[in-house]
Amino acid sequence: MVDSHAEKAIRTIVITGGSDGMGRALALERASRGDHVVAVGSTRARGDRLLAEAAGAGLGGRVEFVAADLSTVAGNRAVIDHVGARHAAGIDALVLGANRPFPERTETADGFESTFALYYLSRYLLGHGLVPALARRPGSVIVNVAGVGMTGGGIHWDDLQLRRRYGTVAAQLQAGRANDLLGVAMAERYGERVPYVLFHPGFTRSGRAAAERLRPAARFAIRALALVAAQPVARAIAPIHGFIESPPGVPLTAASRGRSLPLGLKTLDPVAARQLDAVTARLVAGRAEARPPGEA
Ligand SMILES: NC(=O)c1ccc[n+]([C@@H]2O[C@H](COP(=O)([O-])OP(=O)(O)OC[C@H]3O[C@@H](n4cnc5c(N)ncnc54)[C@H](OP(=O)(O)O)[C@@H]3O)[C@@H](O)[C@H]2O)c1
Repeated sequence: MVDSHAEKAIRTIVITGGSDGMGRALALERASRGDHVVAVGSTRARGDRLLAEAAGAGLGGRVEFVAADLSTVAGNRAVIDHVGARHAAGIDALVLGANRPFPERTETADGFESTFALYYLSRYLLGHGLVPALARRPGSVIVNVAGVGMTGGGIHWDDLQLRRRYGTVAAQLQAGRANDLLGVAMAERYGERVPYVLFHPGFTRSGRAAAERLRPAARFAIRALALVAAQPVARAIAPIHGFIESPPGVPLTAASRGRSLPLGLKTLDPVAARQLDAVTARLVAGRAEARPPGEA
């Protein structure tokens, strides 16, 4: 007789940014709890370190690493195709955590501003592209690790690619607010089947490699502040385990650290969410590798 409880306990979890910081800690902890983890990152060496650490802890068979540049449409497509080919039975959770700051404005091969592409568009593409795989499993969930609850910054509707005025922080804040709206749009469309969680972990002692990319003054300030104010990674990710093990029974959840946020927040405006959804669909339409929402 098949023990359905034990079967359910082995989840397949895709974690973007799974090779460093919070994603890496989550990957190793999920594997140690018996899950199978697909960790995605762009640097092969960081992936190899993750695999070596997993093997050293006796978790080798439970962690796989996929190298993909998620700032490109093709990189996201490759991850969706990999999951479709290797995990045809579906996946139980998609945790979206890949991000990095870009001190100067750069564009991806697709012509998108890099922060917009990596921190927002990748999450749009992977969410839509992996919904069919998530819908195949009961009790699945999407967790978008960003900055819900923050009100700083906004969507530059007339200059989404920040061509006129670029700033590292403005780009991060715009993508953060875009992720808030992405959660609302995704929950409206798919939330009954696959609940969506917007999660703000709070200031955390991760992002080491990302800090290296900042200008020296900003790097020094962040490191000094982190020493006194940032929380350990294990504490930051604790609520994510809860979302994976007991997915919310409602289409959309917004949480900052362990605290639920009201869905009536201005940053979660459904009208703006539909508008951004439509604008984004137009932006990716016509890109050869981008398929319409929901088509994996
Ligand atoms: N740390 C905080 O205080 C804090 C606070 C609020 C929200 N957050 C959010 O929490 C999430 C995780 O943050 P973290 O501090 O744990 O990050 P982190 O330590 O900097 O790790 C970032 C991860 O993203 C991957 N990544 C970066 N660029 C990529 C690309 N082009 N393609 C694929 N993967 C890429 C990195 O791997 P590679 O470099 O190998 O590509 C790494 O695995 C982020 O979304 C961040 O905005 C963090």
